[in-house]
Amino acid sequence: MERLKNKVVLVTGGSGGIGSEICRLCVSEGAKVIINYNSDSANALKLAKELGSHAIAIQADVTDPNAVHSMVQQALNRFKSIDVLVNNASGPILPKRFQTLEWSDVQKDITVHLGGSFYCIQSVLPSMIQQKKGSIINILSTYALGKPPVMLSSYVSAKSALMGLSKSLASELAAYQIRVNMVSPGITQTDAIAHLSEETLRQKTQEIPLKRIATPKEIAQTIVFLASDESQYLTGSNIVVSGGSIMP
Ligand SMILES: NC(=O)c1ccc[n+]([C@@H]2O[C@H](COP(=O)([O-])OP(=O)(O)OC[C@H]3O[C@@H](n4cnc5c(N)ncnc54)[C@H](OP(=O)(O)O)[C@@H]3O)[C@@H](O)[C@H]2O)c1
Repeated sequence: MERLKNKVVLVTGGSGGIGSEICRLCVSEGAKVIINYNSDSANALKLAKELGSHAIAIQADVTDPNAVHSMVQQALNRFKSIDVLVNNASGPILPKRFQTLEWSDVQKDITVHLGGSFYCIQSVLPSMIQQKKGSIINILSTYALGKPPVMLSSYVSAKSALMGLSKSLASELAAYQIRVNMVSPGITQTDAIAHLSEETLRQKTQEIPLKRIATPKEIAQTIVFLASDESQYLTGSNIVVSGGSIMP
């Protein structure tokens, strides 16, 4: 069954660990996919080649509103609509004690997570409003729920701000039948967890009821559900995919 047949999905950070699995799974469910990337063109173009005519890779720094606008126009020229937007892009996680944190560090995180999502949502909105339908999925983190880990106040603040935007837009855009949902992954096997030592990772894994960290595909499966019409009565929801480590 192709749950995303005739849908066009834009995935920011689509060449990354979780992003690439979202792109693969969306295509396998019948969607056309725009793989957004920032710096790693080799990875993005390799993925686009793998996915064939169902996908295109487009470079755009999501923190640059002009680049985002141009990406969305290119996508619309190629596929005519954007039905689903997945705000997934993220810079590297750089743990820092609060005493040494600079406001510019916080601004960097806010600019990618909140600003990048803001620009992408504003750019796809006219097309979604026109077709009176759309699904926007913002990727948060379990770090922004429950008890946050130390030294990540900048990342946690940025993800928390994105949660606020997501809920506000779920209310505001419902008038156009545009749904806005969130996915909060727990620790997932990608390059983004390179900052964790082997010992820390082992300890954190022991604290997870299912006793293992997530695979990117397990996160992507929830995103496909939120992208599909199977979730048509969900908006403002935050689905936690964490092996039980967070039980809101
Ligand atoms: N992995 C985890 O344990 C985990 C847990 C909870 C939440 N998350 C969240 O899940 C999402 C995906 O994480 P991941 O683990 O897949 O990360 P990842 O493998 O590091 O991938 C990050 C992606 O974001 C892109 N990116 C970075 N800055 C960008 C920018 N300014 N504009 C456009 N694209 C940009 C990168 O593109 P380039 O390589 O081309 O620069 C890359 O494709 C993130 O929002 C992350 O916060 C991850």
